[in-house]
Amino acid sequence: AKVKQVDFVKSSNRPKDCPRNERPEFAMLGRSNVGKSSLINSLVRKKEVALTSKKPGKTQLINHFLVNKSWYIVDLPGYGFANAPESARMDWSSFTKGYFLNRDTLVSVLLLVDASVPPQKIDLDCANWLGRNNIPMTFVFTKCDKAKGGKAKRPDENIRDFQQLIRESYRQHPPWIMTSSVTGLGRDELLLHMSQLRNY
Ligand code: GTP
Ligand code: MG
Repeated sequence: AKVKQVDFVKSSNRPKDCPRNERPEFAMLGRSNVGKSSLINSLVRKKEVALTSKKPGKTQLINHFLVNKSWYIVDLPGYGFANAPESARMDWSSFTKGYFLNRDTLVSVLLLVDASVPPQKIDLDCANWLGRNNIPMTFVFTKCDKAKGGKAKRPDENIRDFQQLIRESYRQHPPWIMTSSVTGLGRDELLLHMSQLRNY
């Protein structure tokens, strides 16, 4: 499951502009600032293949990266960033129809959820939408390195709470992985999981 090569292929602003060649792909979905672009860099062990920022709203296009000349990892804009200028905001309703419901080569959505905060309604809504539409998904909890002091809950407690809330919507709980782009936690596990899904 090793990453030997990664090539940026293209940025698209509409699903119909995405690459047409038939390669299995994984899409990074999640709130702005959850760590989608950082996780891509962590998986491929490069610092700036995908551009990241402290400020939400950095990724604004659909970015295809080709790994080992054989499969795609797709960086997406985040959702839930209310302050993004209209021009930078993705039209999610046309995107979901054009991409998630129609991308035949989509192996799995990686739904990134910030483990350093309690469950957020927008993430639960997103997970439920994917579930209702039978879109294969893997929960990827991010920022598991962030141990909060004081009264805030720890990542493992937030994850447990999130799983509990999801349980009602799924007969079979989707696979899930704990990660940190800072420490590399979960990197090998996630790469192995993706290779298993590709060969399934
Ligand atoms: P958008 O492109 O705006 O949707 O955001 P994104 O989901 O791509 O987030 P990005 O990777 O740009 O990271 C946002 C911020 O979170 C940056 O400051 C990262 O350094 C930080 N970050 C990302 N992953 C981790 C992590 O695992 N641990 C910690 N502590 N910080 C992280
Ligand atoms: Mg990004």
